Amino acid sequence: MHILIVYDTVYGSTAQVASWIGERLEGCKDVTATVARISERFDLSDYDAVIIGSPIYRNDQILDTVKEFVLQHKERLSEKKVGIFIVALDTGGAYYRGRTIGGIKDLESFAALFDTPPIYGKVLGGEQVPTRLSDEDRRLLLGFYRKIMGMEIDDVPYRYSMDKEGVWQYAERFYRYASR
Ligand SMILES: Cc1cc2nc3c(=O)[nH]c(=O)nc-3n(C[C@H](O)[C@H](O)[C@H](O)COP(=O)(O)O)c2cc1C
Repeated sequence: MHILIVYDTVYGSTAQVASWIGERLEGCKDVTATVARISERFDLSDYDAVIIGSPIYRNDQILDTVKEFVLQHKERLSEKKVGIFIVALDTGGAYYRGRTIGGIKDLESFAALFDTPPIYGKVLGGEQVPTRLSDEDRRLLLGFYRKIMGMEIDDVPYRYSMDKEGVWQYAERFYRYASR
C-alpha cells in the first residue's frame, strides 16, 4: 500500500508530526510512505491512501492551503482511504461561555470539508516557541492569554504537547483501518 502523508505548517511542528507518522507507517507490512508538504509536487493517483494534516491556527481554523487542497481534490479523495489529523496545543478542547471549542470540534470542521467522511482522524499535540512567532502572531496570542485565559504575562509562554507515542498510535490505527 502506498500512503501519502501531506501536510502544511507555519512553525514546523506539523512537519515533525507528519514525519513521525511516515516513520511508523514505513514499519508496517507492505507499506511505502511518502511525506510531502502541500506545496510540493506529487500525484494523488500514485497513492492508495492519503493522510492530510494541518495545525490549528487563527480562530480555531486549519490552514487555508489545506482547506483548498481538500476542496480541490474532493472527488479524487473520495476514491481513497483518507485519514486526517490536526496539530494543536490544547488537544482536548474546552468549554467556554456556553459552547465547546477546539480539540475534536476543530477536527469535525475539517472532516466536514470532505464529500466522503475520512476513515480516521485525531487531534495531536504541537509546540509553541515564542522566539519563532511573527509579531502579528505574538500579539494575537498574547491577547488570547490575557483576555480569555486571564493571565497577566508579558510574553507568550513556551508550550509543548507533542507526543510521539500518540502519533505512532494514530499511524497504527490508520494502517489497520486502511488495510481492511
Ligand atoms: C496565531 C496562533 C493561533 C493559535 N490558535 C490555537 C488554537 O486555537 N488552539 C490550539 O490548541 N492551538 C493554537 N495555536 C497553537 C498551534 O496550533 C500550535 O503551536 C501548533 O503546534 C503549530 O503548528 P506548526 O508548528 O505546524 O505551525 C495557535 C498558534 C498561533 C501562532
